[in-house]
Amino acid sequence: MKIFITRTIPEVGIKLLQQAGISFTQWTEKRDLTRQELIDHCKDCDALMKVGANKIDSVFLEASSHLKVISLLSVGFDGVDVTTATRLKIPVGNTPGVLNEATATAAFLLMIATSRKAFYMHKKIIRGEWGFFEPMADLGIELEGRTLGIWGLGRIGFEMAKKCVGAFNMKVIYTNRHKNELAERELRATQVSFDELLKQSDVLSIHTALTPETAGKFDKQAFSKMKPTSMFINAARGGIHNEKDLIEALQNKTIWGAGLDVTNPEPMDKNNPLLSMPNACVLPHIGSATQEARDAMARIAAENIIAGLKGERLKHVVNPEVYG
Ligand code: DGY
Repeated sequence: MKIFITRTIPEVGIKLLQQAGISFTQWTEKRDLTRQELIDHCKDCDALMKVGANKIDSVFLEASSHLKVISLLSVGFDGVDVTTATRLKIPVGNTPGVLNEATATAAFLLMIATSRKAFYMHKKIIRGEWGFFEPMADLGIELEGRTLGIWGLGRIGFEMAKKCVGAFNMKVIYTNRHKNELAERELRATQVSFDELLKQSDVLSIHTALTPETAGKFDKQAFSKMKPTSMFINAARGGIHNEKDLIEALQNKTIWGAGLDVTNPEPMDKNNPLLSMPNACVLPHIGSATQEARDAMARIAAENIIAGLKGERLKHVVNPEVYG
């Protein structure tokens, strides 16, 4: 059995594959493979571990229908044409549950950084602009007792809410397809409509998957309903907000600030206006970038490969329909 891995991955994943007697090739060049290169590399392989930007689209899948399993080193699977994979009976695995803490911490970090214009202030020092003390310059907003709105209260959203309640005694409201009993019980969270979420949130944090329903949901119209003192935080997927509308909302002071761990496209252009605005903090999609999370992700991704090659059900599968 042979697999292709589109990046170098943590040792824990490599060891599991070796112990299972699976040979593998890792793509080590510091650039993304083209689709054709990916197809070519997968030709002689039984499975693919996909890490990073490559799209698993219908062209790739039709050309690689011999694959017994595709294992993602991510919880998100928006880059995969799941319908085609299912039709071709290829199970697709992901890595949920192990990056909640890391991703929620990134959102929490962005919220605090945005509330104090931290990235912009740091850049001022670098530019030699740490001048005389001006008591009214570059003031932030305190978070104590504010209302946190969570869009998508799953496991990551729950961790973010827990941190905000613990640190700043924030009131939690959320919009979700299902009621989150645990959050209502433990965090006194209240479910509200999308419109109410926009209207009431002092900090609105996105923790939902990118789907056709969520794509571009935060646009001019949505931002116009938010408070002028509010902050928009996105550590989920860049495609959920409309970047042009967000820039305008920040420039026009429709909203107060934004903290982004995800952009559209990624990587972001270095001349993007968001990078020089006082009220924006941007990180390069580092939500799950902790040693602990990445090790755990590599372990699950390897376990999914091993199960798939044995013809067993994957522990974490995004298209269980392949099993009939
Ligand atoms: C995920 O797992 O989906 C994170 O965004 C890292 O890619």
